[in-house]
Amino acid sequence: MREHYLLPEISRPGRIGCTLPSLDVPSSDLPPADSLREELRIPEVSEVDLVRYFTALSKLNYGVDSGFYPLGSCTMKYNPKWHEDVSRLPGFAALHPYQPEDSVQGALELMYRLQEYLTEVTGTNATSLVPVAGAHGELAGLFMVKAYHEDRGDRSRKKILLTDSSHGTNPASVAMCGLDTGIVASDDKGDLDLKSLESMMTEEVAALTLTMPSTLGLFDPKIAEISRLVHERGGLLGGDGANLNAILGQAKFGELGFDYVQLNLHKTFSTPHGGGGPGSGPLCVRENLVDFLPTPLVSEDNGRYGFVSPAKTIGKIAGFYGNFSVLVKAYAYALSLGPDGLKRISEDAVLNANYIKEKLKAYYHLPYDRTCMHEVVFSGKKQKAKGVATLDIAKRLLDYGLHPPTVYFPLIVSEALMTEPTETESRETLDNYIASMKEIAKDAEENPEILHSAPRNTPVRRLDDARAFRQLDLRWEMNGQKE
Ligand SMILES: Cc1ncc(COP(=O)(O)O)c(C=O)c1O
Repeated sequence: MREHYLLPEISRPGRIGCTLPSLDVPSSDLPPADSLREELRIPEVSEVDLVRYFTALSKLNYGVDSGFYPLGSCTMKYNPKWHEDVSRLPGFAALHPYQPEDSVQGALELMYRLQEYLTEVTGTNATSLVPVAGAHGELAGLFMVKAYHEDRGDRSRKKILLTDSSHGTNPASVAMCGLDTGIVASDDKGDLDLKSLESMMTEEVAALTLTMPSTLGLFDPKIAEISRLVHERGGLLGGDGANLNAILGQAKFGELGFDYVQLNLHKTFSTPHGGGGPGSGPLCVRENLVDFLPTPLVSEDNGRYGFVSPAKTIGKIAGFYGNFSVLVKAYAYALSLGPDGLKRISEDAVLNANYIKEKLKAYYHLPYDRTCMHEVVFSGKKQKAKGVATLDIAKRLLDYGLHPPTVYFPLIVSEALMTEPTETESRETLDNYIASMKEIAKDAEENPEILHSAPRNTPVRRLDDARAFRQLDLRWEMNGQKE
């Protein structure tokens, strides 16, 4: 059956898709003719055509509810629908941020408890729920780093060290904060190179930001030494905690020596990641930074909840109190899992990634052959030598009905293929992915053309995405006329 993707294509003059109720207000004349558009090209379709059109459109969308989505560094796990229901309860969803505190005690209690919970999970001393994305939490963390050093009368520290495997938001946050970036190399095991750090950790360095586990999916066993070195030289250790899914309930950022860390609730705590939806990047800090947290925090005094401002706060970084619906989902998720469930998340996420690693390492080059955490980074360089690019592999996966892994990131792995299966996938789903990747590896050897011309089974073939970025124009054109 042919599916209709374009509504005007199925339009026929006089067809109507709805029945209007009889008029229950006084009728009035149309505005003067010269105020009316001559040709308002509204598609004319029947109800069934319209239903089919939208149903066909909805099927074009690929999401975690349609299939496996191993997009590394994004933690595209399945989020239980029940938490969506909870966040939509009218007692939460219909609140107004200007309501008097007395009338929103339940919401404040939830926020307070979530603050306490995330503080506990990260082994820190306080948490701000205000940042509305991971990058926003990173930026707020850097504002605090600046304020912390200035408060100590040290104005010379203007540099933030990052690693060469950092997520792109890390340098962007540094630039937005008006600081300079220094890049510390990784060693041949994929960990931070201590010698490089030692030579770069000068008196102008305000902090080192470390992603833990890294975007290579690796836990750096030298973390205690790194923390000691950074602190001995007067710097702070900041954590990009977006990969919390890997260490939930197993290791705590505060105990590993981090002074602050941002989390991505929209990765780990039951809010879908991506699609432009609301996110949340809470900032958890050790004692030395508590006074600098963004305002407001939620406080509790004898069972009454209210807002307080930390003594030396960096100020307001977002409207009101953060993305409340995401906080509700996170709290519901935490309660429904309990402490044991939380540990199972990281155990299963790590197990799944290692399962894929072991099953595919004979087929794809594995630059760091060691136990990985929540994700495994392969390189397509074997296939590249046969003229098949990593992009071809990713596009071919679409023909198997699978979302590809992240490609060409982290930048230090050539032809990178970064697979993050998450804990919510079954053995069968993983096996299906593994089998597909094996077939693709075989085709790269024997039938590369099928990869060069992929995808073949998708509604549109390979797109010129570089041009789409540069000349973003989302309007539809019919016979040269823009709609
Ligand atoms: C390691 C890492 N850091 C930072 C971020 C940025 O988070 P956000 O997209 O919420 O700004 C991400 C996003 O997934 C990430 O994977």
